Amino acid sequence: MGKSNWKKPPKEWKAKTRAAHVGYDPFLSMGAVRPPIFAVSTFATEDAEKLEHMFRRAYGFEPPLSPDDEWPIYTRVSNPNFIMLCDRIQCLEQGAEESEAVYFPSGLSAIFTMVLTLCQPEDTLIFGYPVYGGTDHMLRHIVPERMGIHVVPVDATDLNQVEEAVKKHADNLKAVFIETPANPSLAMVDIQKVADLTHENSDGILAVDNTFMSPILQHPFQHGADIVIYSGTKSIGGHSDLIAGFVIDKDPKRAFQIQSIRSGTGPTPSAFDAWLLFRSLDTLEERVLKAQDNAKKIAQFLKEHPKVERVIYPDFYDQNSEEWDIYQKQCKGPGSMITFDPKGEKKESYAILNSLKIFGLAVSLGGVESLAENPWFHTHMDVSDEDKRKSRFKPQTLRLSVGIEDADDLCQDLDQALSKI
Ligand SMILES: Cc1ncc(COP(=O)(O)O)c(C=O)c1O
Repeated sequence: MGKSNWKKPPKEWKAKTRAAHVGYDPFLSMGAVRPPIFAVSTFATEDAEKLEHMFRRAYGFEPPLSPDDEWPIYTRVSNPNFIMLCDRIQCLEQGAEESEAVYFPSGLSAIFTMVLTLCQPEDTLIFGYPVYGGTDHMLRHIVPERMGIHVVPVDATDLNQVEEAVKKHADNLKAVFIETPANPSLAMVDIQKVADLTHENSDGILAVDNTFMSPILQHPFQHGADIVIYSGTKSIGGHSDLIAGFVIDKDPKRAFQIQSIRSGTGPTPSAFDAWLLFRSLDTLEERVLKAQDNAKKIAQFLKEHPKVERVIYPDFYDQNSEEWDIYQKQCKGPGSMITFDPKGEKKESYAILNSLKIFGLAVSLGGVESLAENPWFHTHMDVSDEDKRKSRFKPQTLRLSVGIEDADDLCQDLDQALSKI
């Protein structure tokens, strides 16, 4: 909590220390050890010249004069709780020291505003499926149909497809968007190779949705990504009590443009949610690692269960496969998402979901409580059956988000539910 470290932490500080200290200077709030909630819409400025400068910044005409020059003027544009939160989340993202974070009221709003900033009508955006169902819907329907942006879906696990699409659309390619590991197939996309293909053949940038791994288990900037995206609703929030999103851009100028488009189009997160997120970051590493420990045990339990046909979990990838190599290169652990097929069809998978007592039957992930759903009929309903099959999930596939409860209790819960089929 030292005064000098709240903005720029020493390089040697580990994630846990950064997550608990960066972003807040108690001496700006009368020594309060935890930050207050700035529940205000507007802010007074000392003089008209400073207000003019802040407006120039809000409209994206100029970046701040220095990192400390961040006086808020109006909460749609910024708020002290947003600034603290962005400083803290940014410093967890390794591989781009100068990056800047922008805070959004949801993960989808972060992706949408990024697209709105980078692409104009007729520009091309390539996205690598599989991605979260809501992102898929936005990129396949809303963005091309409402904004006139040319959206090209490719199988991002097939680098030939990525290369072909990048070369074909190089002239007006603005961005390639991938999610890895993907939701719900846990397919691994090689961030470095997609980054190289994008950068060597076009002026486009690579954006990576890192929601599944969180800043604790994967650092896309270290593998050539230009922008990292999070649904802050998941492990970053971690308690299933808010919706949030982040864009972290390694180019601070582009981050200001994105922030300026957010301010200019209106999606505004709340100071209270920012305060909750700031508090959640204190325990991010503990929660992510505990959930991962639980998931390892549950994945093994399911693998050995006679009523289970297939378990998709990174630790079980074929060690002679390219996917295993990508996993080893990119991820610090397998995470807490498990996808598995019980024996049977949709009916059996629903019988399991309807029998679970500890796992909640709910979408979302990364919370302290364990959740289960059927991606084919729930989160990914809008994805075509063909693409779902290509993304290796079936009508009976179940997706688990493992929380931080007792692992034995969770295994018992699955066991009693599997006994119903
Ligand atoms: C990987 C991933 N990205 C983005 C989103 C969208 O985030 P939000 O629900 O916060 O808008 C989700 C939501 O489930 C997700 O799983």
